[in-house]
Amino acid sequence: MRWRGDLRSRRPSAQMLAPRMFQPNPIALALAIFFPGLIWAGPSDEPHLSIVPRTKSEAARIASVTKLATSFDQAQQFEAKSAGAATVRAMSNADAFSQPSGNITFEDELTFKVGNGLFRKLWVSSPSSTLASDGLGPLYNARSCQRCHRKDGRGHPPEGPEDNAISMFLRVSIPGSSDDAISEIEGYLATLPEPTYGSQLQDLSLAGYPGEYTLQIDYEEVEVALSGGEFASLRQPTYTAANLGYGPLHPDAMLSPRVAPQMIGLGLLEAIPAADILALADPDDLNGDGISGRPNIVWSIEYNEPMLGRFGLKAASPTVREQSAGAFAGDIGISNPLFPAAWGDCTAAQSDCRAAPHGDADDRGFEIDDEGLDLVTFYSRNLGAPARRDVDDPDVLRGKETFHTTGCTSCHQPVFVTHRLEDQPEQSFQLIWRIPICSSTTWGRG
Ligand code: HEC
Ligand code: HEC
Repeated sequence: MRWRGDLRSRRPSAQMLAPRMFQPNPIALALAIFFPGLIWAGPSDEPHLSIVPRTKSEAARIASVTKLATSFDQAQQFEAKSAGAATVRAMSNADAFSQPSGNITFEDELTFKVGNGLFRKLWVSSPSSTLASDGLGPLYNARSCQRCHRKDGRGHPPEGPEDNAISMFLRVSIPGSSDDAISEIEGYLATLPEPTYGSQLQDLSLAGYPGEYTLQIDYEEVEVALSGGEFASLRQPTYTAANLGYGPLHPDAMLSPRVAPQMIGLGLLEAIPAADILALADPDDLNGDGISGRPNIVWSIEYNEPMLGRFGLKAASPTVREQSAGAFAGDIGISNPLFPAAWGDCTAAQSDCRAAPHGDADDRGFEIDDEGLDLVTFYSRNLGAPARRDVDDPDVLRGKETFHTTGCTSCHQPVFVTHRLEDQPEQSFQLIWRIPICSSTTWGRG
């Protein structure tokens, strides 16, 4: 197995959950700001990757293959290979998103399968005779990763009153103050966890502990006029945290609904050079296309420095490993080296919940240890993106032309080449195409 990053700072320094809400180490932050060359090379610093720098001639070749298409008579070369050599065969069954990277070795495929076991594993409450699987909760949204990322695909909002909200939850935060050290990073929107409920609302809980809420969604039908004179009817949702188990929310609490996204191609998105993403930023809309893309710079718990956010629907997490560790802690209540609190997202105000039995007293140290976290990370990085189909079909080409000419590409950059990497052959130097839309940059109109 080839894990990387093991020697870097993994100090479990933080107690809370969402990366944006962390109290960064003020000394590291001051150094990062005053000695950028020394400690922090800027948002393009990528401590999570072992990068082989591009040669000048490679950079020139890459610039030419990643140019936006201008002719739509036929598909571009390699376009069907969404994920370069990591692309997998398109299948129209439930396993479509569950295959390992197409270029994975036999040995690493075994590692992938062990990681899959942990991704599917159902955690149980402590104490339990099944050590190594206990530690669930006390508050949680689901008992396994797979419960939300169903068959590695996306989740969905509850379909109706009988359906549960298993693959969806509400994040919650309150505005931070400008005194927070992290607000010294330009453009950083300081937020803090909600004082009683933490950074995410959990609807489920162990017996004897109240759950935090019930997700309630009400829809209003809205008619939208289309340019050809037709009307479309869209449903506008309103999200409510009903049946609050620990008293009212803070008056300034902000709710943010999240549905679990699909898991394919994530290792490739993690290996796109930060500099290539940052080059697309246009926060003040200097190019006048009406769109202002802003990178989200976040505090990395894993590396203890600011990094480009890439994962989560608001790009709040810089790496697959950190996102996965946050999911163990926040979604399932499983402590791990990055989020060491055995009680997950229970806050100091939820003292019974903090005092509940937990599963880290045995020789694991944490409810899931470094090795387990690495296995799940390897799995999450290597879910293969399926090949595109019918790239030469005239209708598909017409759609592609519309995608380019109506401005979708102002936000959806269609092609990237990943870094050349020393120790991740599956993700190294791949030409990738419009595979899951990378949320590394948050985009706004205006
Ligand atoms: C309760 C449902 C739920 C569970 C359980 C869950 N996830 Fe997620 N997952 C989500 C949601 C929702 C998001 C989007 C998060 C956000 O926007 O902050 C997400 C995002 C992710 C992402 C980033 C995907 C992207 O495209 O940016 C990864 C990686 C991930 N989860 C891995 C895991 C792993 C590993 C586990 C198990 C330890 C897990 N998840 C458990 C709901 C869940
Ligand atoms: C102003 C920027 C912007 C423009 C312009 C734009 N999009 Fe998006 N699009 C986004 C963002 C942001 C997301 C959410 C991505 C995420 O969170 O992962 C998204 C998501 C999507 C998704 C869902 C992807 C998924 O996996 O869930 C599709 C499909 C999509 N866009 C298609 C289009 C098309 C087609 C156009 C042009 C008609 C377009 N977009 C124009 C910003 C934009």
